[in-house]
Amino acid sequence: MDYAVTREQALARISAAQDLGALEALRVEFLGKQGSISGLLKTLGAMSAEERQTTGPLIHALREGVTEALATRKAALEGAALDARLASETIDLTLPAPAAPRGSIHPVSQVMDELAEIFADMGFAVATGPEIEDDWHNFTALNIPESHPARAMHDTFYFPDKDAEGRDILLRTHTSPVQIRAMLQQGAPIRIIAPGRVYRSDSDATHTPMFHQVEGLVIDKGIHLGHLKWTLETFLKAFFERDDIVLRLRPSYFPFTEPSVEVDVGFAIVGGKRVLGGSGDAPGHGWMELLGSGMVNRKVIAAGGLDPDEWQGFAFGAGIDRLAMLKYGMDDLRAFFDGDVRWNAHYGFNPNDVPTLSGGVGTTA
Ligand code: DAH
Repeated sequence: MDYAVTREQALARISAAQDLGALEALRVEFLGKQGSISGLLKTLGAMSAEERQTTGPLIHALREGVTEALATRKAALEGAALDARLASETIDLTLPAPAAPRGSIHPVSQVMDELAEIFADMGFAVATGPEIEDDWHNFTALNIPESHPARAMHDTFYFPDKDAEGRDILLRTHTSPVQIRAMLQQGAPIRIIAPGRVYRSDSDATHTPMFHQVEGLVIDKGIHLGHLKWTLETFLKAFFERDDIVLRLRPSYFPFTEPSVEVDVGFAIVGGKRVLGGSGDAPGHGWMELLGSGMVNRKVIAAGGLDPDEWQGFAFGAGIDRLAMLKYGMDDLRAFFDGDVRWNAHYGFNPNDVPTLSGGVGTTA
């Protein structure tokens, strides 16, 4: 048998293969289990020692030559396929941008971005939790037991079914359950904000069944009310972009905090409108309730799986829609959720204008 001729013929057919499918068929024909070259290798066993010494290297060389030719042709075919794709899939980067920006960022998204930016600077991460919650995370773990009047006050949307653990399922009525989830998931210390949607069966000029809150939670050692006040002050000055923001902490009650404080912000009346800034006690000024907060209740820290003798913390919760209205001057909450593109075109924000602390968290709309 003339292995040189066999080799020439095989190589010619390989270099003539027009696509990867044809090439693969040749590989099987030569080198597959039933392939012709594989067959030749099997004949070695029946040969005499001398015959094998001369024929063996020839058959091995044949197999190597064919293997190499297959690889070379494969690379060439793949290269050609890529070239063809690159030639056909082009984008023209010289196309002009639209004359006016299209689409805009909804004020709620804008404010969420601003919050994330401001709190990131203070070392807070953004945490999330499910909007479909169970009553343990939404209420019980937050020290709102079943008989507690706060449950009734929350106007909760319940699902008809219970979950696998027999807990009632509901649409979360506040972002506070994320406090519990964060403690259980990451342990301590913690510094998070948790912005998101919340739901209550309530609808009038100032309430919508779905609205947005941001929760804040800090858990560490030796945390006290001073840390809470400084954090909120620093946040609100950055958010409203005014150094003269003055806060008033008023004793209040929330089941999940002890002590609890309601935070008011001072405003002035300018041209019939409320403008934040200055003490609310000054003549022509007033206080506006802005958010709820307090030192995390020991029972809540324990429900989060932490030892309340070791860890303390503060928490706060604020309405994002309200923050947006105050900062950007909208007066009707319902318009936020009407999906009217004219409203969004008017109040929306340029998608290219990303909030940064250095460039200003507010934008030029
Ligand atoms: N969860 C409360 C609500 O929706 C708001 C709130 C008050 C959150 C005080 C807090 C807090 O974290 O400390 O009405």
